[in-house]
Amino acid sequence: KDSEVKNICCIGAGYVGGPTMAVIADNCPSLKVNVVDINEERIKKWNEKDFDRLPIYEPGLAEIIKRCRNKNLFFSIDIKKHIESADMIFLSVNTPIKKSGLGKGQASDLKYIESSTREIAKYAKGETIIVEKSTLPVRTAETIKSILESNDKSFNNQKFSVLSNPEFLAEGTAINDLENPDRVLIGGENPEAITALEEIYVNWVDKNKILKTNLWSSELSKLVANAFLAQRISSINSISAICETTGADINEVSRAIGMDTRIGEKFLNAGPGYGGSCFKKDILNLVYLSKYYGLNEVASYWQKVVDLNVWQQHRIRKIIVKKLFNNLTSKKIGIMGFSFKANTNDTRESPAIQICKDLIEEGADLRIYDPKVNKFQIEKDLEQNQFNDNGEGSWTLCKSIKDIAIDADAIVIATEWEEFKSLDWSDISRLMRSPKWLFDTRGITNSKDIKQHNINYWKIGLGDSSSNIKFNF
Ligand code: UDX
Ligand code: UDX
Ligand code: ADP
Repeated sequence: KDSEVKNICCIGAGYVGGPTMAVIADNCPSLKVNVVDINEERIKKWNEKDFDRLPIYEPGLAEIIKRCRNKNLFFSIDIKKHIESADMIFLSVNTPIKKSGLGKGQASDLKYIESSTREIAKYAKGETIIVEKSTLPVRTAETIKSILESNDKSFNNQKFSVLSNPEFLAEGTAINDLENPDRVLIGGENPEAITALEEIYVNWVDKNKILKTNLWSSELSKLVANAFLAQRISSINSISAICETTGADINEVSRAIGMDTRIGEKFLNAGPGYGGSCFKKDILNLVYLSKYYGLNEVASYWQKVVDLNVWQQHRIRKIIVKKLFNNLTSKKIGIMGFSFKANTNDTRESPAIQICKDLIEEGADLRIYDPKVNKFQIEKDLEQNQFNDNGEGSWTLCKSIKDIAIDADAIVIATEWEEFKSLDWSDISRLMRSPKWLFDTRGITNSKDIKQHNINYWKIGLGDSSSNIKFNF
């Protein structure tokens, strides 16, 4: 029996599917990897001659695409053909939060999972291993299985195995995370299928980093990992508010607690609230699951992590508006960064979106600079075209930091891009209009450095230690 995997198909050419398949192809030259998507535009971009125009920006990704594309890595819209020839199929389609119906605003929308699974049921031939890659609620593998089994394909000698192999990559560091994972998790029931997937990873991952669990543990671990990470951010953000009112400094607190090895130093940066496509969705999945099983205390515990994030985002927006005298009409405000974190062009759930919307609503004229996000994406996110001149606030995308600083009354740092960490603030200050303000929502600038250039300064989690705060207990 020939159980060796030779042909891989990945359904979904997005932030997960694209980089993951690129790294697999790069490390397994004998495998043929076909990435398919229903979005023709996206596939076209993956096949662009100009590597600056790939649909996804990730450090190191373009180099791999250059090496592997059209050798053993292919991007195509021919879903049928590539499902037919695949021994192993990865599901990397999007699973956004449901916008309507049962579980609206909380449960994941599995319509893309369902439709791609139906395609697999229709076209797959012989023995096929299905690998869940998308972030999914627990027990999705079961749904996938029942869709596959309900399809009468006995004439094709059909046999399916379903594995859960959650993705732990973070955007902005996806290639490094994929190449040097902390662990690879494989959940499943069929030992042969598990071994087949393991054999792919051992090409570059140490065998003792590959964990095998049952299906549900694997699916649940993904949700829990993201819930714990998000919880750390909500925890530190809650403390940032205490720092601002008491005169402590969140950076000092983070450093002091992070040196406790039980706590650890990573993921303790206070900011404008977490964004990205996963955290909110995954916690809400956990909340939904807990409620479903009648675990109401568990549900409300995790719900608080989301609530605090919403509060933090709102709190910071209010501070900016208030410090500018509640009057932003025709004020020019520079926005540094629009993506949800540095080193990605992804803007899903980016805190910058709501900050910009609020400032526009107050009548401000925004000048946005982001090294990687394009105009069309911002237009979609802000639900408003550039240069809108109805006199009620507007935005323009600028090509440089200098452009956003000219005549600006204020600058808001919304994303922690590396280039924002070492700016010449004397140059920027000279271009701005007095009274000048800087709002650093990411805590990446130095207060002395800014204040010496006559810029009023607000920084996340930085209290005024000289102020004489009295407590009346
Ligand atoms: C704690 C802090 O660890 C210490 O740094 C501080 O100075 C005082 O408070 P302590 O309460 O002595 O120390 O012990 P700790 O090991 O933190 O355990 C506290 C409780 O948590 C115990 O009941 C322990 O059983 C429980 N625990 C700890 C768990 O249930 N699970 C764990 O993984 C760890
Ligand atoms: C996350 C998980 O890290 C990853 O393992 C999972 O597979 C997908 O979800 P991602 O959302 O891509 O990855 O990026 P991450 O680095 O986790 O950042 C998420 C958000 O948290 C960003 O908005 C980031 O700015 C914010 N964040 C992160 C903080 O505010 N402070 C921190 O200390 C770390
Ligand atoms: P993620 O961050 O999870 O990778 P993305 O939205 O970036 O999410 O990518 C998911 C991709 O899956 C999208 O490009 C979308 O067009 C694709 N997709 C969704 N449903 C199907 C389907 N039935 N067949 C093929 N591709 C699909």
